[in-house]
Amino acid sequence: MGKIVIAIDGYSGCGKSSTAKAVAKILGYTYIDSGAMYRAATLHFLNENLRPSKPEEAIQGLQTLSISFKINPETGLQETYLNGKNVEDEIRSMQISHRVSELATVASIRRELVAQQQRLGSGKGVVMDGRDIGSVVFPDADLKVFMTANLETRAKRRQLELLEKGQTVDLEEIKENLAGRDEVDSSRAESPLMKMSDAVEVDTSNLTFEGQVAQIVQLAKAKIEMN
Ligand code: DC
Repeated sequence: MGKIVIAIDGYSGCGKSSTAKAVAKILGYTYIDSGAMYRAATLHFLNENLRPSKPEEAIQGLQTLSISFKINPETGLQETYLNGKNVEDEIRSMQISHRVSELATVASIRRELVAQQQRLGSGKGVVMDGRDIGSVVFPDADLKVFMTANLETRAKRRQLELLEKGQTVDLEEIKENLAGRDEVDSSRAESPLMKMSDAVEVDTSNLTFEGQVAQIVQLAKAKIEMN
């Protein structure tokens, strides 16, 4: 049976990454977190004091940007590296969440990150999550999923996730951040977040984590059998 490419897009905080990761594990596929790449790039621009919206500074930032992923042998989880440094926790902070959408509107930066994502997923047997995976990165993906959930549910899930990492954040701040990013991500000129006509919508508001994973695995298995 042939391996397939699975694209998972959707709003911020729907659980795309954790779901995509679990789906990849069950299928024995490679998981790629494209949002982590935009987050790592945001951290890089902040560290280097460069403004992504200024064309020369965007070029300068891209020239010194190197993002990679490695599996932590202790936890078995994938972690993000920026120029050789593990930045997995740092890129999940609210400081980065507040700035990432702005960087993600810049065409030259998107072009570079999309090219890297296409290289990373060039073999089949990949699950990638983000905002433009089914539309731009892998428009020919075998399975496209568009994940949604209501804002309250998403904010509560994100708050718990941050708490597990030792960060206590007010629910209202998280809600504002998620709603703000949805707005910027959906209305930007460059590769806006949208549900493709060939994507299957999965509303996770009333699903358990195991339930949403099982639903996507089932969709994937049906496609794999056809492949
Ligand atoms: O998936 P995430 O919430 O970690 O992504 C962080 C931000 O990166 C998100 O608000 C928009 C941007 N992003 C994007 O524009 N395109 C992608 N493919 C993935 C993320």
